[in-house]
Amino acid sequence: MPLVTTKEMFEKAYKGGYAIGAFNVNNMEIVQGITEAAKEVNAPLILQVSKGARAYANHTYLMKLVEAAVIETGLPIALHLDHGSDYELCKSCIDGGFTSVMIDASGKPFEENIAITRKVVEYAHDHGVVVEAELGTLAGIEDEVNVSAEDSSYTRPEDVQEFVEKTGCDSLAIAIGTSHGAYKFKPGTNPQLRFDILEEVEKRLPGFPIVLHGASSVPQEFVNIINANGGKMPGAIGVPEEQLRKAASMAVCKINIDSDLRLALTANIRKYFNDHPDHFDPRQYLTPGRAAIKEMVKHKIVDVLGCDGKA
Ligand code: G3H
Ligand code: 13P
Ligand code: ZN
Repeated sequence: MPLVTTKEMFEKAYKGGYAIGAFNVNNMEIVQGITEAAKEVNAPLILQVSKGARAYANHTYLMKLVEAAVIETGLPIALHLDHGSDYELCKSCIDGGFTSVMIDASGKPFEENIAITRKVVEYAHDHGVVVEAELGTLAGIEDEVNVSAEDSSYTRPEDVQEFVEKTGCDSLAIAIGTSHGAYKFKPGTNPQLRFDILEEVEKRLPGFPIVLHGASSVPQEFVNIINANGGKMPGAIGVPEEQLRKAASMAVCKINIDSDLRLALTANIRKYFNDHPDHFDPRQYLTPGRAAIKEMVKHKIVDVLGCDGKA
C-alpha cells in the first residue's frame, strides 16, 4: 500500500469517536518505535515531520524511512508536514511526496491567514494532497517560534466557518488550552481544556475534522527517570490523558504528540548510561529508547486515542 492521505482516516475517526495519533519523527529509531507499536495493535498512523526535523535529517532520508515503515507494516500511513511556515515549504513537501501538509499562518492576521492557506490548498489539492490549517495560537516552542502564554489565544468559534469556507482546508487545528513542549501548565494548577470552545466549533462545522496540537501528557514516570539519572526537569506537566480521550470522542480526529516521544527516548538513554557508564555502542543505548517509544505509543493508541484495530 502506498502512503495515504488523511481523508478516509478522518472520516472513519469522526464517525467512530476516536482520533488518529500524529507522531513527530526525526530519525530511524523513532520511526521504528512508533510503527512497530501501530503494527501490533493494527492502527492507522500519521507520521509528521517539522521544518526542524527536515533540516536535521534531510527530506529524502525521512521520506525513505517512512516508505520503509509502510513496506514493513502494511499499515495506512500518512506523511504530514508539521507547522509549515510558508507556501514554499509546503510546496516543496508536496512536490517531494508528502500526502498531507499543515500551513501554520495562525500568527498572522485573520485575512492574511486565509489568503496564505487558500494558496497552499489550491496547490495541494491540484496534487492530491490534503491541508491542515490553524486558527488561534498555542503557547510553547516549535522550531524557531516561541509563543509566550500571554501571546497565545484561544480559537474564536465565530471565525471557524468563514475560515474553512474561504480556504477550503481539509482539517483545522484549534487552540483550546494545550501548548507545545513539556511545561504546559503551572505546577499545582488543575489543567483543564476548553471543551466549551470545542463544542461550539463542532456545532459550527458538523462532520469537519479538528486537530489538537500540543497534546503530550508528559508522563511523570519519564520525568522521574530523567531526574534520577542526572537530569533537571522541574515542574513538567502535560495534558491529562482522560481529557485527550474525551476530545478524541468528539470532533478531534488528529492528536499531535512529540514531547512524550522525546521524553521516552531521553529517559531511557540517560538511565542506560547511568547503568552502563563504560558502554559506547549506540545500538545498545538506542535499543531501550526505541522500546520505550513503542510501549508509550501503544498505550496512547489503545488507551487514549482509541484507534487500535482501525487500520
Ligand atoms: O510542534 C512542534 C513539534 O514538537 C516539532 O518540534 O520544531 O522542534 O521539531 P521541532
Ligand atoms: P507536544 O509538544 O505536546 O508533543 O506537541 C507536539 C505538536 O503539537 C507537534 O505539532
Ligand atoms: Zn504543533
